[in-house]
Amino acid sequence: MRLPFTAGVWSKCGFREWHRGGFRRATVAVARVGVDIDVHSYAQNGERRPYTTWRSRYALGFKPPMCPLLTAAIRLIIRAGFDKIATMINYVDQISVEDYNGLRKAVGWAELERKQAETGIKNSVFFVAAVSEDRTVGMARIVGDGGYIAYIADVIVLPEFQGNGIGKALMQKCIGFLKESLQEGQQYFVNLVASPGKEPFYEKFGFNVRPNEKEGAGMTQRIYFDAAGRNR
Ligand SMILES: CC(C)(COP(=O)(O)OP(=O)(O)OC[C@H]1O[C@@H](n2cnc3c(N)ncnc32)[C@H](O)[C@@H]1OP(=O)(O)O)[C@@H](O)C(=O)NCCC(=O)NCCS
Repeated sequence: MRLPFTAGVWSKCGFREWHRGGFRRATVAVARVGVDIDVHSYAQNGERRPYTTWRSRYALGFKPPMCPLLTAAIRLIIRAGFDKIATMINYVDQISVEDYNGLRKAVGWAELERKQAETGIKNSVFFVAAVSEDRTVGMARIVGDGGYIAYIADVIVLPEFQGNGIGKALMQKCIGFLKESLQEGQQYFVNLVASPGKEPFYEKFGFNVRPNEKEGAGMTQRIYFDAAGRNR
């Protein structure tokens, strides 16, 4: 799909080298309201909102200092696009084991044995999954004792859907559930293990990085049942 722009207009606005590929990529980017272009590269290098970073604007041939207004306009269009994507997602309270393992696999986590996965989903205190056009694209769940201790686990958004506000929506639903279920005089101790580099994401929802002045580092271990039938 081509937008009614010409390469000349773009270059007067501060774009450089509007060779066919660059122009087409930018056109597609705007036309699809920031949905998809270079999605894989930003997912891989951990960046998000690719069109709002200087690096990716350069990748599109953009000369940042020359056209701040156009930059701001494109950013607005793209932000609107991301917001639109986030609102097009449906949130459901259960998914299949296949979808659960599919999400885990997509972010490089081990797939779980079927019965264990099934039990985990079923026994979650709270479970939420994000669905786009019948495809499960994200999930988060809370496990715990149903009383004081809650643990937020399996917060996952498919790489190609990351950066669209879905992770935020999933976390808000988890925290919202906990807040709504508290009664007078009660409190929750909410825990999670952040993957490396994800701490700032969780800080947005009120979590404190450990160790800190009051709390030691969290500790974990994994216990396996090996092929020879031994626990280790
Ligand atoms: C972590 C994860 C769930 C975030 O989901 P997402 O849909 O990409 O996040 P969102 O788009 O909703 O981002 C929400 C906010 O968090 C911020 N954010 C997201 N990832 C971030 C990161 N790695 N570092 C800092 N901030 C981050 C965003 O900037 C955004 O901020 P804003 O609301 O001020 O704009 C997703 O990256 C993911 O699934 N990663 C792989 C699995 C994983 O590591 N999960 C966490 C396990 S503990």
